[in-house]
Amino acid sequence: MKKSILVGVSLLVAALVSTPVVVMAADTDAVSSANSFNRLLQKPAEKNLPPAEDGIHDAENDNTYVLQPPKIAFDSLVRSDFGNYVDWIKSLREQKISPRNERMGGGEEPMIMDLDIVREVRGSMPDVIFPHKGHTEWLQCSNCHPDIFIPQQGANRMNMAGILLGQKCGVCHGKVSFPVVTTTCRLCHSQAKPEGWAPSKSSASVDNPWQ
Ligand code: HEC
Ligand code: HEC
Ligand code: HEC
Repeated sequence: MKKSILVGVSLLVAALVSTPVVVMAADTDAVSSANSFNRLLQKPAEKNLPPAEDGIHDAENDNTYVLQPPKIAFDSLVRSDFGNYVDWIKSLREQKISPRNERMGGGEEPMIMDLDIVREVRGSMPDVIFPHKGHTEWLQCSNCHPDIFIPQQGANRMNMAGILLGQKCGVCHGKVSFPVVTTTCRLCHSQAKPEGWAPSKSSASVDNPWQ
């Protein structure tokens, strides 16, 4: 009995020793474990690591080393303070990049639509402006309509919890476009509340005769 426990323990030790990646990851995990249910709140130790070190590409494959490291690729682009530290919208508009609109590069022009959709936000946060322009400069209508959003103002229900969990705007924001962090709230919540706006009272306080 005792022996088999010992064997078990030494096997476990052997397994830990032979997988140094798990041991190394423990430090950063400890910091973010409280928020680990939420991929958007996790703080990676360092961003834009070279492909061989980013945990996504295969470090054993020689071709991984042929890829241009992000830090070099992003060097000439307009900087931002969040995400991968590139302001992609400005970089595109200042023609630092010219992405293809077709995978095979047929020279097609994007269908850019300049239509802002205002979403009134419950509570005191400024309202959300969804700009079609900044999106259709990169994306096709079918990237969003109708699977993510029914194309009708107000027809879709959205809230912050769902976005943080990867729904609606969170299908992209936090994955391929700027993340939801304290420095980016104002990018989406960009329209001040109308003059004289006051939070609505709950029925409890309206009904309360002692108020
Ligand atoms: C990144 C996602 C995204 C893309 C790409 C996109 N839309 Fe939208 N669209 C939205 C959202 C969000 C709304 C607002 C829905 C709401 O308020 O419930 C909307 C609303 C609309 C509306 C309703 C406007 C109104 O006043 O009721 C139309 C029409 C529309 N989109 C057409 C398009 C067309 C055409 C394209 C391509 C040129 C396009 N959209 C690309 C996200 C997108
Ligand atoms: C299909 C993917 C996708 C969805 C869904 C999406 N976005 Fe975006 N969004 C992008 C991309 C790509 C950019 C440009 C890259 C960047 O800024 O990170 C962008 C940029 C933006 C910008 C900056 C635009 C500018 O002109 O500077 C705002 C604001 C924004 N998104 C708000 C929203 C809101 C609000 C929603 C949900 C109603 C939403 N997005 C849904 C992909 C998406
Ligand atoms: C990618 C765009 C985007 C970013 C970034 C963003 N929000 Fe939101 N937020 C929304 C949308 C869309 C709604 C839903 C509006 C509606 O009701 O139609 C919303 C709703 C809210 C609400 C109302 C309650 C709720 O859950 O619906 C609060 C409060 C809020 N956001 C706070 C924040 C704070 C704080 C930040 C920064 C940490 C932030 N938001 C960043 C898009 C965004």
